Amino acid sequence: MQIINTITPDYRSYLSKEEIAAIEHEAGIMETREAAGIEALKVVQKHRGWISDDSLYAIAQLLNMSAAELDGVATFYNLIYRQQVGRYVIHICNSISCHLTGYQQVLQAIKAHLGIDYGQTTADGLFTLLSNACLGGCDKAPVMMIGEQHYQYLTPEKAVEILEKIAAGAGTENYLPSFFSEDEGKRDGGRENKTRSRDYLDDDDVAGEISEMELSDD
Ligand code: FES
Repeated sequence: MQIINTITPDYRSYLSKEEIAAIEHEAGIMETREAAGIEALKVVQKHRGWISDDSLYAIAQLLNMSAAELDGVATFYNLIYRQQVGRYVIHICNSISCHLTGYQQVLQAIKAHLGIDYGQTTADGLFTLLSNACLGGCDKAPVMMIGEQHYQYLTPEKAVEILEKIAAGAGTENYLPSFFSEDEGKRDGGRENKTRSRDYLDDDDVAGEISEMELSDD
């Protein structure tokens, strides 16, 4: 795909040179504007954590797309955040297998622990709570995903324990969803994004995994 470079000082002043270069690279290897659009959204979310309206307009200008067209791409992917999110975004699977194995109890425990509902972010900006369609771990339900990490065989107690451990070891970086794992590799700050799954069956498993996640800075 070729970028039609309309002179739009807005996007040049809004997006960083690094973002523009990355988007132009993606646009150059993608065959459709839709494909370039999703890659461009990923680039900007990688740097900014979410896609504001200003970001959306800037990307659309750069790709010579309409903002409405790009917004359609953005809203199709639930791992593109169109509202500001916390450092850790909790995606809880609400599909059938998880429903049958304790999703409601896990959800209520998380809501009570964090004091937020779906779509909300904790006052300290640490956690955002979102629902998600099947996360691909139906045989290990209930499942939630935080950053690049999938947590399986959840119970209310395990879910709260995981959140407590994350909060206790929280650094200063955001965590990207596994959506970004395959091609983005690393986010600002150098943290690897690899999708990993663990079956949380005992405390040592949880402690070990959280420790691994939190301490792997290179
Ligand atoms: S139904 Fe929850 S992971 Fe598939």
